[in-house]
Amino acid sequence: MIKKCLFPVAGYGTRFLPATKAMPKEILPVLDKPLVQYGVEEAVEAGLTDIGFVTGRGKRAIEDHFDVSYELEHQIAGTGKEKALDGIRSLIETCTFSYTRQIEMKGLGDAILKGRTLIGDEPFGVVLADDLCFGSRQGVLHQMVSLYKQFRCSIVAIEEVPKDQTHAYGVIAGEAISERLFRVTDMVEKPAPEDAPSNLAIIGRYILTPDIFEILEATEPGKNGELQITDALLNQARAGCVMAYKFEGRRFDCGSVAGYVAATNYCFEQLRDREG
Ligand code: UTP
Repeated sequence: MIKKCLFPVAGYGTRFLPATKAMPKEILPVLDKPLVQYGVEEAVEAGLTDIGFVTGRGKRAIEDHFDVSYELEHQIAGTGKEKALDGIRSLIETCTFSYTRQIEMKGLGDAILKGRTLIGDEPFGVVLADDLCFGSRQGVLHQMVSLYKQFRCSIVAIEEVPKDQTHAYGVIAGEAISERLFRVTDMVEKPAPEDAPSNLAIIGRYILTPDIFEILEATEPGKNGELQITDALLNQARAGCVMAYKFEGRRFDCGSVAGYVAATNYCFEQLRDREG
C-alpha cells in the first residue's frame, strides 16, 4: 500500500568534517556497508521499493552506489569477491531509484517539499539515513507501516532521550493511546531542556500523508530560518491527527562521531556473535 520512500540526503554533514568534505555522510560505512544502504534495506523490508533521493551537490557517490559498476564487476566476476556485492545487487534489482535536487539547504521540511515531484499524491516513508535503526523483530519502518494501516495518518518515530539532549531533536507532547503510541498535541524543534514538552524525541523515520506538501508550502521558516518538518507536522496534528510511535529496537545517531562509533561497535559485536 505504501510503496514510496524518500531519502533527504542533501545536508552538508558538518558534524563529520573533514570526512564529509568531498564524500556524502550517507556513504560512510558501518563495517563494510554505507549508511544509506542500511536505510534502503530497511525500506525494502517494509515493502517500500520506490526509492526517491533528495540530493545535492557532491552527492554523486550515492547515485553510483545504486547502479552497476561494470569495470569492477567484470574484474571480480568468477572470484569469491563477487559475493560481497550480492546485497547491493539485489537492491538494484528490487527497487527503482529516482533523484531530485535541493539547490539550497533550507531545512528538512524544504528537502521533503522538494521530494514532492517524486512522491505525488500518496502516503510515503521518510528515512534519514544517518539515523541507523535496528528493529527488534521487524525493522522500524515496517513497524510504522503496520501502524499506518490502522490509523491512516502521519506517524513519527520517537525515543526517550536524556533531558539535556532535547536541544538536538524535535520533541513532542502527546496523549498516550497505548504504551508505545501517542497522539501528538504539541511539537517543538530543538527546545532547551526547560522548554521541552517531554523527553520524547523525534528520530529519522516518518510516514507522511501527502497533504503534508500543502501544509509545508503554507508553513513559515522556523528555527534557524529553515523550513522545519516539525512545524508542518504540528500544523497537521492540529488540523487532523499525527501519531508518535516509540519504536521497538535501537537507533544510532551516525551523524555524530560518538553515535557512529557506537553503531560500528554494536554491528561488530553482532557480526562476531553470528560468526561465533
Ligand atoms: P541534519 O541537520 O542532521 O544533517 O539533517 P546535516 O545538515 O547533513 O548534518 P550536520 O548537522 O551539518 O552535521 C537531518 C537530515 O536532513 C537532511 C540531511 O541530509 C539529513 O539526512 N537535510 C537537512 C536535507 O536534505 N536538506 C536540508 O536542507 C537539511
